[in-house]
Amino acid sequence: MTIWVGTGWKMNKTLAQARDYAETLAAVEQERWAGIQPFILPPSTALAVVSAVLGPRSRVLVGAQNAHWADAGAWTGEVSVPQVADAGATIVEIGHSERRTFFAETDATVNLKVKATVRHGLTPLVCVGEPASVFAARGSVTYVLDEVRAALQGVNDVSSVVLAYEPIWAIGSGGREAEPADIADVFAAVQAEWGGSVQAVLFGGSVNLGNAVPILAVEGVDGLFVGRAAWDVDGFIELLDLVAAR
Ligand code: 13P
Repeated sequence: MTIWVGTGWKMNKTLAQARDYAETLAAVEQERWAGIQPFILPPSTALAVVSAVLGPRSRVLVGAQNAHWADAGAWTGEVSVPQVADAGATIVEIGHSERRTFFAETDATVNLKVKATVRHGLTPLVCVGEPASVFAARGSVTYVLDEVRAALQGVNDVSSVVLAYEPIWAIGSGGREAEPADIADVFAAVQAEWGGSVQAVLFGGSVNLGNAVPILAVEGVDGLFVGRAAWDVDGFIELLDLVAAR
């Protein structure tokens, strides 16, 4: 089984920093990551340079952190799926909690974006996850299943979809690291409903070198989606090597 290990850079890195990161990654003997599907999601400004540096034969996939559902038009400030594909993206991240919270992304717009991404043959990386209050009230499974159903509603072929369970309480510097027992029920439920049809179900939220292996050992976890711990390229490489050696 392929294990996905990737990082979203969020709103970080200049072009020079992005190029450095990609050059370091490109220089590594990537064969040692057999069985792993690495991916990086730079800001849209750096997609083209990162894709060009990595080149077509790299094992590392490149993706966008967001894209609009329309192909083109009067949508000031947005980028479309064809545009990010043109810049080298093969993955589109959709519905990260920061976008849902701060940019009014809803289940409905997530669904439109999933459809647009599938229509253009890219891989939708669909983020779902409950807030701390829902986790405390033991409502995580219902909340996450509802989000996944809404995101994939009416999508004829979900075989390219990658889901990322990212509980909001685990994300970012204010987040709490998840224990395997915190997330096992959600993975069991999501895999029971979608495991035969989607590509993979990842975990994200404060993943680091210390908790990556125990989290990957949770039944149903097909990979890791990492923020801070992989913003430094050496951290990303260490994480990939750790996963390869586990
Ligand atoms: P952190 O790993 O920094 O908590 O971020 C995770 C994340 O949001 C990945 O999408």
